[in-house]
Amino acid sequence: MINMAVPEKKEMMYEGKAKQVYATEDSSRVIVYFKDDATAFNGKKKSQISGKGEINNTLSSILYTYLEEKGIKTHFLRQLSTREMLVHAVDIIPLEVIVRNIAAGSMARNLGVKEGTVFKKPILEYSFKKDELGDPMVSEDHIIALEWASQEQIDFIRRTALKINELLKEIMLKAGLRLVDFKLEFGMRKNEMLLADEISPDTCRLWDVETGEVMDKDRFRKDLGQVAEHYQEVLKRVKKALSV
Ligand code: TMP
Repeated sequence: MINMAVPEKKEMMYEGKAKQVYATEDSSRVIVYFKDDATAFNGKKKSQISGKGEINNTLSSILYTYLEEKGIKTHFLRQLSTREMLVHAVDIIPLEVIVRNIAAGSMARNLGVKEGTVFKKPILEYSFKKDELGDPMVSEDHIIALEWASQEQIDFIRRTALKINELLKEIMLKAGLRLVDFKLEFGMRKNEMLLADEISPDTCRLWDVETGEVMDKDRFRKDLGQVAEHYQEVLKRVKKALSV
């Protein structure tokens, strides 16, 4: 039976740049609290975006629910409040899994590819999640040699990330948004791999289909202004696209 009792929020177990994780009375479940803090360039640029935590929690909850309906296993259990969600406790695999459909950000910069170039097929990239090292890009061979994940786990991550890309692209398009690229994280719950972390304008690049307007965290990174307003607009459009 699904346990719908309100979980008791206990001690903070972990604090990241945008979220906090709290223990509950059940060691297999934790509460994620979404902050308004925003950072970029590996924490060098720091600010607060008023209302961001609420938007990202709500949007992530909606998108996880949608992905679950489409057969993707996620850590999400339910949204508890405007800024909190209840999730399965997982051991995070220390990888940022990045899917790119269109050239932007570090890829455009590092490889000299013109921003906006559309790829024939999506590009999958991995970074080692390690702030002190600036999250360096790694290959599948690094991941296996350093035992962050097995070949079988990487195959699963690849398949799942590409499936999520198709599902997100479709829903974003319905919302009048081009899914340029995004970042995923996965974690292990016993022997099962689950999608974890968040899916929000902090972790995706989204461009308006008609005008090309930037609707994501690049507004913060590049000082384009009205960050929360654009995040709110993304939430509004995705809600409408999913009829929720
Ligand atoms: P990048 O072009 O800066 O490498 O970013 C690729 C995607 O990953 C983009 O959608 C933003 C997201 N991202 C994160 O979610 N967290 C990060 O720390 C970074 C650098 C990027």
